[in-house]
Amino acid sequence: MPWARPIIAGNWKMNGLRADGLALADALVNGASQGSGAGTLAIFPPATLLAAIAQRLAGSQVLLGGQDCAPQAKGAFTGDLSAPMLQDAGCRLVIVGHSERRQGHGETDALVQAKAKAAHAAGLAVVLCIGETEAEWQAGQTLAVLDRQLEGSLPEGASAEWLIVAYEPVWAIGTGRTPTAADIERTHAHLRKRLGQLVPDGASLGLLYGGSVKAANAGEILAIPEVDGVLVGGACLQADEFLAIRQAGSRAAR
Ligand code: PGA
Repeated sequence: MPWARPIIAGNWKMNGLRADGLALADALVNGASQGSGAGTLAIFPPATLLAAIAQRLAGSQVLLGGQDCAPQAKGAFTGDLSAPMLQDAGCRLVIVGHSERRQGHGETDALVQAKAKAAHAAGLAVVLCIGETEAEWQAGQTLAVLDRQLEGSLPEGASAEWLIVAYEPVWAIGTGRTPTAADIERTHAHLRKRLGQLVPDGASLGLLYGGSVKAANAGEILAIPEVDGVLVGGACLQADEFLAIRQAGSRAAR
């Protein structure tokens, strides 16, 4: 199994100035070295802090990732960051296809696929996000939308060695609302089946849930069959809360 379960990933989004970002990273390194909490712990700070945080994480169990990358390796792309740059800054992973990129920046499946390909070429593991909107959810189109996104954005030659998929309903992100455990179970079972068809080792591919995960609901979510971990936004900005999610994951794994 390529990644130790559960995979607990924290997407800082556009949060963190130097002082509080470094303090949060230090607190996580400290917390991760104590107590139980097997599995994989990864954080995705803003790009401005990656190099400094990489130094703080050196020798710890906490992995570093970027929040997005360009499909090109270098060149005249003002404001963009390439996968080799992230790798050079100390990243092991990168998120692509987050709904805040798909929706807020008009990213298509084809672009997300190109980003995933570039990330893999640079030696980064990829966290590929997919998820339906509220309207699609209400119209009962969730599985069809996820299939379309998966087929359109999965990079060629994908493998569980370097690809993780995160199911994040758009309507659950930052809203405090989540699907029921039964709904997540049904959706993840479907995704597992599809991934088994699309990726040779899809059966062992890390499959995360994301959207309003916090310490209070992490235990229930991480106990759902086919949920290998969680992608956490708001609740990962407090070290105690994020470490409590990790603890909940260790308990669910027992
Ligand atoms: P949230 O964000 O935990 O704040 O809902 C999750 C995400 O966007 O990955």
